[in-house]
Amino acid sequence: MPVKMKRNILIHPDPRLKKTCAPVDDLSDALRSLADDMLETMYDAPGIGLAAPQVGVLSRLIVLDCIKEEGAPPQPMAMFNPMVIATSDETSTYDEGCLSIPEQYGEVTRPAEVEVAWIDRDGKARQQVFDKLWATCVQHEIDHLDGKLFIDYLRPLRRQMITRKMQKLKREMARG
Ligand code: NI
Repeated sequence: MPVKMKRNILIHPDPRLKKTCAPVDDLSDALRSLADDMLETMYDAPGIGLAAPQVGVLSRLIVLDCIKEEGAPPQPMAMFNPMVIATSDETSTYDEGCLSIPEQYGEVTRPAEVEVAWIDRDGKARQQVFDKLWATCVQHEIDHLDGKLFIDYLRPLRRQMITRKMQKLKREMARG
């Protein structure tokens, strides 16, 4: 039984968070266990989504679980090569956050519904429509695979302010 391991989450700004990630073409055990580790890391944070570049791996893999109701069973999802294949005209706005930008939030408007295609943990091709928080989360995580952060949707001044706060936080963390 492989042991799940918590991974270190990169904090913005980091060049690895700005890269376009490579598609996964062979679902190895190493990638499966990376997905398990990412879920563990996400639940521990706690968060509702995490993308591989956030743990320093530049591969197209995201994990998410947007079940927030107290006592509801968890619904962990791991998606390899996730792709938005259809979007609604209707939009919704959420106050988004990101585990790589701790304690900073900003309103982002995105399509309210998206259809996503991906390869699951068992190597099976899947397709599903997501709405509400799931739709926002899956789009936010897929953005990470293209080096895009939620703050890129904010006004430049707000983005710069958040980036400066994160630089300061990183300096404090480095000092220990
Ligand atoms: Ni994020």
